[in-house]
Amino acid sequence: GPVLVLAGGLSHEREVSLNSGRRVARALAERGHEVITADLDSSLIATLRGIDDVTVFPLLHGETGEDGSLRQVLDLLDVPYVGAGPAASRIAFDKSIATPVVTEAGLLTPEQIALPHDVFRELGAAELVRAVGDRLGFPLMVKPARSGSAMGCSRVEQPAELPQAMVGAYAYGDLAVIESFISGTEVAVGVVDLGSGPEALPAVEIRPDSGVYDYAARYTAGATRFIAPADIDEQTAKACADLAIRVHEVLGLRELSRTDMIISGDGVPVFLEANVAPGMTETSSIPLAMKASGKDLGDFCSEMIMAARR
Ligand code: DAL
Ligand code: MG
Repeated sequence: GPVLVLAGGLSHEREVSLNSGRRVARALAERGHEVITADLDSSLIATLRGIDDVTVFPLLHGETGEDGSLRQVLDLLDVPYVGAGPAASRIAFDKSIATPVVTEAGLLTPEQIALPHDVFRELGAAELVRAVGDRLGFPLMVKPARSGSAMGCSRVEQPAELPQAMVGAYAYGDLAVIESFISGTEVAVGVVDLGSGPEALPAVEIRPDSGVYDYAARYTAGATRFIAPADIDEQTAKACADLAIRVHEVLGLRELSRTDMIISGDGVPVFLEANVAPGMTETSSIPLAMKASGKDLGDFCSEMIMAARR
């Protein structure tokens, strides 16, 4: 049956999603699949009902696509799709839940404080700065709990910068996380899980020219150097692969996930976040990792469709 590539949606990552969707749609068409593309709007259910034997490839980044709600609808309609189910997706997408779950599993994570906007208002900036300074110290990372592509994220060097960073994160939702800053080499590790157990793709090292892997560094051609496979020794590469596979398992992910991590000074990878609908754009790491593994995006996507149908 045909593959419905679902991209766009209403999240802040709409443009990124459209780029991911176009690339995957092209790759699947080249492998001989009948591909239909659709945006996420109110006609989706009618569209799905109108296509026999359809499989969905969700490339919606951000809310709806990654928070489990779309996947819930697909489950209700009995439509197979690539990637994690609703509960796993909801947990993975929310950094205030995913990070503690990964910590509980015995894996290394930054220390984290999750802070709702109304608690932030109640506490006041001075009290927050004091409490956070005592608990985590500086520098810190501040992020919206539920977002992607680094939107609303800031690195906080000094106590005085914290309140503004919180406000920046709350622009994307009413829950923010404050995390201890882990310095080191950032790598992204994809996991493909096609029915015979999860396997890690080669780690991709991320070196933004500006030093900060923000939205512009992610999606401006040439703004970031991606090194695939990462320039790390075999033992470190194994540790990164192990962490990504464990995260995939602990969070109950399926077919495809990407875990972002920092290799700290001592060569030990520390979890940053997991992605259930990782970017597939021209500047995304997963397609590069696939290529480095010797098999390209189209082949992997085709296999993920087969796995989703089983
Ligand atoms: N949230 C973006 C799409 C990514 O993780 O690649
Ligand atoms: Mg993300």
